[in-house]
Amino acid sequence: MVAPATALGVDLLLFASESNDSGAQITHHIVGDYTNLSEVLDFANKCDVVTFEHELVPLSVIKGLEAEGIKVYPPSSAFIYSQDKAAMREKLNAFPAPRSQVITDAATVGEYPVIAKAISGGYDGRGVWKVDSSQELQAILQHTPKLLIEELVDFDTEIAVMVARSPHGQATSWAPVETVQQDGICIMTVTPAQNISSTVAEKSQQMALEIAQSVGVVGVMAVEMFVKGEEIFINELAMRPHNSGHWSIEGAVTSQFEQHLRAILDLPLGSPEMNFPFAVMGNVLGGDKTDMYRPYLHLMARTPSLHFHQYKKDVRPGRKIGHVTACGDDLLHLTQEVQHARDYMSGVIDE
Ligand SMILES: Nc1ncnc2c1ncn2[C@@H]1O[C@H](COP(=O)(O)OP(=O)(O)OP(=O)(O)O)[C@@H](O)[C@H]1O
Ligand SMILES: [Mg+2]
Repeated sequence: MVAPATALGVDLLLFASESNDSGAQITHHIVGDYTNLSEVLDFANKCDVVTFEHELVPLSVIKGLEAEGIKVYPPSSAFIYSQDKAAMREKLNAFPAPRSQVITDAATVGEYPVIAKAISGGYDGRGVWKVDSSQELQAILQHTPKLLIEELVDFDTEIAVMVARSPHGQATSWAPVETVQQDGICIMTVTPAQNISSTVAEKSQQMALEIAQSVGVVGVMAVEMFVKGEEIFINELAMRPHNSGHWSIEGAVTSQFEQHLRAILDLPLGSPEMNFPFAVMGNVLGGDKTDMYRPYLHLMARTPSLHFHQYKKDVRPGRKIGHVTACGDDLLHLTQEVQHARDYMSGVIDE
């Protein structure tokens, strides 16, 4: 959000866990513990409005800010649905979703395979397990005593629809995005999603807008969905600028980061239209390469149209440390260039 905040003349102040957090390296910040209400309150009193870029801030802290009259977006009444998968399933029971139940005892599950999920705190597939037997389920219950059990959906395509909503209720959505996952991590996105019908595309956007209104989100939100034929299943909600919206930095008239700022400041929202027919984004995962200088030389020379984003995070295997985006009208070419750049920077290939 730092780049669009600078452009809009908005002063950002970051509450960071450590001074070498990605955002803290490039913007004004205060270091503190986001689980400690009094520390967060001291920080929030310096701000006109407070928002989040991850979902780990305890609901009690958010409610504590609200009790002091601080404007927090999204509000706790909405944020809970991105933190608690069981509450989300219950709230969205009017929308199509995988069949699900909350369990504490493996005996309540009769059929396998199923998907088991930690009710809160999971990300990048951590906290999600495909379970084939009662024994496996019992082993998971040992460390996670309460689970959301879902029908395993044999979907054709996984998509996400990003929406933005402002306090007075203006809302927009970007084109549906196909998210390609490997080992529970999103490795690539293609916008607009290719393998869905135009009816599904329209319906998915309509649903995402209805969900945004129903939960009362303020800011941007990703609605993750599965598509099987003409059927849509709601997977989960993420209430923050999301990986599935990174393409919008170059690919859309208004990026998700700018839109988030506009939404929480109750400014008119920007256009979500695409600047190009296609936008492909590839996540760069940590591998053996820690120094990107030589990979940059090679890739920038090879593909001058590629956009690079480096998060300045410590490199750990499998950790998302950056992304690359290519926009244009030749989807196959864009996909090949993004895959090559991603694999080259992650160290999967050397040429
Ligand atoms: N009911 C289901 N049926 C089939 N596959 C599923 C189901 N639920 C989840 N998955 C797969 O597991 C992945 C991770 O699940 P989910 O999005 O709920 O977890 P997360 O770890 O909270 O997410 P994120 O990676 O978005 O932080 C999904 O993207 C999807 O590929
Ligand atoms: Mg997910």
